[in-house]
Amino acid sequence: MSGAPAFTMGTGAPYARMLGVGGYRPARIVPNSELVERIDSSDEWIRERSGIQTRHRAADDESVVDMALIAAEKAMANCGVTADQLGCVIVATVTHLLQTPSAAAVLGYRLGATKAAAFDISAACAGFCHALALANDMVRGGSAEYVLIVGVEKLTDMVDPYDRGSAFIFGDGAGAAVVGPSDVPGIGPVVWGADGSQADAITQDVPWQTLRDDPTHKFPTLSMNGQQVFRWAVFQMAPVCQQALDKAGVRADQLDAFIPHQANLRIVEAMVKKLGLPAHVAVARDIVDTGNTSAASVPLAMERLLDNGEAPHGGTALLIGYGAGLAYAAQVVTLP
Ligand code: UT7
Repeated sequence: MSGAPAFTMGTGAPYARMLGVGGYRPARIVPNSELVERIDSSDEWIRERSGIQTRHRAADDESVVDMALIAAEKAMANCGVTADQLGCVIVATVTHLLQTPSAAAVLGYRLGATKAAAFDISAACAGFCHALALANDMVRGGSAEYVLIVGVEKLTDMVDPYDRGSAFIFGDGAGAAVVGPSDVPGIGPVVWGADGSQADAITQDVPWQTLRDDPTHKFPTLSMNGQQVFRWAVFQMAPVCQQALDKAGVRADQLDAFIPHQANLRIVEAMVKKLGLPAHVAVARDIVDTGNTSAASVPLAMERLLDNGEAPHGGTALLIGYGAGLAYAAQVVTLP
């Protein structure tokens, strides 16, 4: 009797990297002054505590897939990868309001990515960096040659405009990147994890069945314990950044850019200080006029640093996403 047959395994590329990036910010710009009355706040307080001056809001009829499509087309045009070359489409989002099918499946169809697998992931503000880690492993493992990853949120649908703790923070937008083969390392080892013991720190306030059982109940919205998340981010996430640097064998002074999730400008500045980043490292401070766009924030900030010429194409950057879960993921990358 012969033994079990040895499987034939696919082989991937030696390494992977981001080849192109694209972002989309909806047209409507909302200044703090438009929000403050409903939450008994002030422009000054919001700027001082979060750094945010304005954010973008999607139109009522603009869906996460609509926004993702624009960002994805830009990212693909950016590197010349076409829809028929995509082996997988991954969408990171927590605001696609259909339980099924995935936003990725519809996005793939609208792009014409007829040969691509497609699925969504739920890792909130850490979603893009999770998708990047998956894409890196897929390209190297041979399950896809080119992977489109998108972080997209329409948080306007999930935020209570009367909630003092969150109404001013969040914005809408989409950011995408194409990940493909490379002869040299372009995406470093990911450092990631989740602390479910703090799951209630950022959460949908009630499950969907509450609405089913009581149709008069208000639509579920996000609730956030800002101080709890702030403390966790400042004290736990800088060490995660350092681990990502160490695992990649890159020193802070070798970075061209630091692109953390845009949750709060004070968290960004605290991380810069804790990491001891020298002045030549470009730091993403996109939150000032984009707000916190959750899964979209890292790619949106990356695109802006590149477009402004603050960070060089082909430069080395440290990325970190963190948020509800509480989940986090960080990696060193070569910028597209
Ligand atoms: O993206 C996912 C991850 N999310 C985050 O990382 C968010 C992290 N957290 C934060 O960014 C901050 O906690 C916030 C920006 C949300 C809040 O800033 P804070 O400095 O932590 O404010 P706080 O909750 O400690 O409140 C300070 C004071 C309080 O007044 P007293 O008790 O000192 O008199 C609040 O009542 O500010 C008051 N306050 C406000 N005042 C004006 C709370 N919210 C507001 C408001 N406007 N919207």
